[in-house]
This record gives sequence, C-alpha cells and structure tokens, in this order.
Amino acid sequence: MIKQEEMKVINQKEIAQSIYELTLEGELVSEMSQPGQFVHIKTGNGFEPLLRRPISISSINPGKKQFTMIYRAEGKGTELLSQKEIEKSVDVLGPMGNGFPLNEAAAGSDTVLLVGGGIGVPPLYELSKRLKEKGITATHVLGFQAKEHVFYEDEFTKLGETYIVTADGSYGSQGFVTDVIRDLPKDFTVIYACGPTPMLRALEIEYGHKKLFLSLEERMGCGIGACFACVCHTADDPTGSSYKKVCSDGPVFRSGEVVI
Ligand code: FES
Repeated sequence: MIKQEEMKVINQKEIAQSIYELTLEGELVSEMSQPGQFVHIKTGNGFEPLLRRPISISSINPGKKQFTMIYRAEGKGTELLSQKEIEKSVDVLGPMGNGFPLNEAAAGSDTVLLVGGGIGVPPLYELSKRLKEKGITATHVLGFQAKEHVFYEDEFTKLGETYIVTADGSYGSQGFVTDVIRDLPKDFTVIYACGPTPMLRALEIEYGHKKLFLSLEERMGCGIGACFACVCHTADDPTGSSYKKVCSDGPVFRSGEVVI
C-alpha cells in the first residue's frame, strides 16, 4: 500500500560525482515488497520546488526499517535533497510501481544477467540481493559515462561477477553494455535491465527473444499517474489508442509489452 511519511535521514553521502546515497528510516519500509519499485520524494522545503521526484529504491532493510536510494543531484530539487543532513526529515510517498518479477528466474535452471546504465544501476542492487537469497548468483554488467560516475562496483562484486564499462573508456572496458555482454561466455536465460532508453532498445533488439525485463524509469515525470509524460504504446497496438503508464503499470515491463 502507498503511504506518505516524514522519514528520518540516517545517512547521506556523495558516492560518485554528483551521485548521492541516502538512507531513510520509517514505517513505510514495511510496505516495500519488490525490487525495482520507487518512491516519490518531496525534494525541497515547503512549496519549492513544487513537484515530487521519482527515485528508485536501491536497497531495503526491513529489520531496521530503513531503505537506501541513490540519485543524481542535477537540478534544484535534487540539489536541495543532497543538502539534507542526518536527523532531518524527508517527505516520502511510496512505494510505487511494479518492480522486477523475481519468480521468473529459478535457482538451478536459469542463468541470470542484470544490466544497468548510469542512474538505472541502483534498483539492480536490491534485485541481485533477492536473487542471491533464492540461490541465484547473477552476473552484472554496469555501464557509466566515465570513471568519476562509477559507483557500487564493490557491492555488486560481492554478490556476483561484475563487469564495468564506460563510454569514454576511462574505467573498465570501453563502449556499451551490449559489447561486453556479447563477449561473455555464458548463455543467459533471464535478463533484467534498467537504464537509458537507447540501452534498453539495444537490449530488446538483441535479446528480446529471451526472458527480458526492462525498467523504463527514465521516462517518468510526475510519478503518480497525473501528467501523462510517461505513457507508451502497447506493442500490439503501436499507433493506436492503447497505452500503458510507466509510473503505475511499470516501471518494469516484459520485453515486447510496450514500445520503447
Ligand atoms: Fe506522470 Fe506517469 S509520470 S503519469
């Protein structure tokens, strides 16, 4: 169930250039069930800025009633959020959306790949932890613009094989996530991905015939079904009036479900 709560800041730190990791505590955590869901954050104070920002959940700790999210400080709202100190409160609405379906991968029979791009990497962390609990060790391919933007390499490496790729080649291998995946010796049966739309499109072209789940978070605006900024056509009616909303029907869709 979606709830609204003033949650307490437990920790906040810059983990890469303009990328912040923020841990919050409160009762709302007990509602978080699926990896890949997001929260809707009031980033400023009072009415400035007016709109909430959708930010994905990167890890959940139900025992401590805490969750962590990772976001890029790139506008007035998220800049204000990055200045929130420990013990201050943040207005959170959530959890929202439909996340990654864990039951699509089976221990023992499936080989699972997680693919992330930039600020699409964080939700894969909780997903990988949950898969591990099910007995599945996923392989991770994580893409970033440049060395200074890379984060969570150690965290992912602790969970499974992890490959870093940067667009400019300043860290890891150079190129796109798809270049790295092509060179991997494994044949993956289930792929979960989150990142910029061109990356998701490239994955759909190459791996759309497999079990592929795509999180379209980049496409979100208001996050609550009000602005229609996130609508996409369904694949079986690509030019017609049938559409889905990324914020409420997604953000995760099975490949071929919507036009991306
Ligand atoms: Fe506004 Fe979905 S983001 S309707």
